[in-house]
Amino acid sequence: MKHTLFRRKSISQLLKASGEAKLKRTLGSFDLVMLGVGAIIGTGIFILPGTVAATYSGPSIIFSFIIAGIACALAGMCYSEFSSSVPVTGSAYTYGYVVFGEIIAWLVAWALVLEYGLAAASVATGWSSYLTTLLEGFNISLPTAISGPFNPAEGTYINVPAIGIILVIAFVLTFGIQESAKLNKIMVFVKVGVILLFIVVGIFYVQPENWQPFMPFGVNGVFSGAAILFFAYLGFDAVSSAAEEVKNPQRNMPIGIIGSLFVCTLLYVAVSLILTGIVPYNNLNVSDPVSFAMQFINQDWVAGMISLGAIVGMMTVILVLIYGGTRLLYALGRDGLLPKWMSDVDKNQTPVKNTWFFAILIAICAGFIPLSKLAELVNMGTLLAFTIVSIGIIYLRKDKTIPDGGFKVPFFPVLPIVSFLFCFFLITQLSLETWITSSIWFAVGLLFYFGYGKNHSLLNRD
Ligand code: ALA
Repeated sequence: MKHTLFRRKSISQLLKASGEAKLKRTLGSFDLVMLGVGAIIGTGIFILPGTVAATYSGPSIIFSFIIAGIACALAGMCYSEFSSSVPVTGSAYTYGYVVFGEIIAWLVAWALVLEYGLAAASVATGWSSYLTTLLEGFNISLPTAISGPFNPAEGTYINVPAIGIILVIAFVLTFGIQESAKLNKIMVFVKVGVILLFIVVGIFYVQPENWQPFMPFGVNGVFSGAAILFFAYLGFDAVSSAAEEVKNPQRNMPIGIIGSLFVCTLLYVAVSLILTGIVPYNNLNVSDPVSFAMQFINQDWVAGMISLGAIVGMMTVILVLIYGGTRLLYALGRDGLLPKWMSDVDKNQTPVKNTWFFAILIAICAGFIPLSKLAELVNMGTLLAFTIVSIGIIYLRKDKTIPDGGFKVPFFPVLPIVSFLFCFFLITQLSLETWITSSIWFAVGLLFYFGYGKNHSLLNRD
């Protein structure tokens, strides 16, 4: 019994499967950094810093960003080693399959579907509220009934803009990753452009006395802020889903993952320093802090540009998250753990069927469910995947069949262990509610595995 549940894929088997893969290798390292920045920068900079600065960290929000960034960079290095040694799609799921066996891999995949799906849905609801505010600036107001999740008490029943944006992005993805990456690149330029504009204009209005007191809620506030801002870095792991569509993955994957994390951390720190330097932190509890800061200094045109940039920027986050999810479903379908049609591709070598399937599920979540309560679940799914990937490196190094020459985590084995402990610590910080909801999610996942995946797994045939 134990033997079947923990059956593993060998690296050579995986590399062979990806050699016969139906996906095309078209992406270079710059595309990957762009995909990473596309996936990472979104609500984490355009929405979250407001409440986090006002209620958790004050101006020391920059430390919260740095702490969350370090946790992600540690896990990111482990991701890089895996994706450079096993350049096969499916991200942490595939790595779990190689080192820990099928059932753990399945649970990681189940956690990641939750991460990508819920994160995309909650970014879509953030996008919808930015759009509503922007339209209000032009005196256009959307009917309340169709601009929020199901909540009859407030008169909202369905979030039409959120559903709409998810379906539009799914449509773009059906044209294939090459086309999507091109569009992504344009949108990333716009997004980074407005952030730089904010920095360049804002720097002249910084009043250092606003940085006093620097740490109004103490060290605890900084850590609680970091736990929330963790969300701001999510998405970099989706870059590793592109492994089968990357040229020279041994070199390009680590550049893509670490490079995009580095760029985002720099931007986050710069923006939050300027934000808290312009507006006293206790005034920042608004849903659009970055454009609010520009209005605060009467730069209304910059504020408008930033709102537009945020709208474009959040679209790329949704794009890469849905992309990551569809490639995961593709890998699961190929391995037999989900129905075979999940790995069907069309003439453009794109998994169109699973793209629509995943997008419709996400659209239903974003359209009807009040997501604020579920957002912490995203962190649970992600952190679980990170712990598996971090500790997995230790096992990966024992496998002598791996071709040499790829990226290696420095300070082995200290760094993977620290990364594992860090992520594990953050998991313990999540609320009891989140633990209960995720237990239910994993119980359903196990039922599915025993009812379907275990018998249909390709490894059953070998
Ligand atoms: N990192 C992504 C964001 O902040 C999920 O929107």
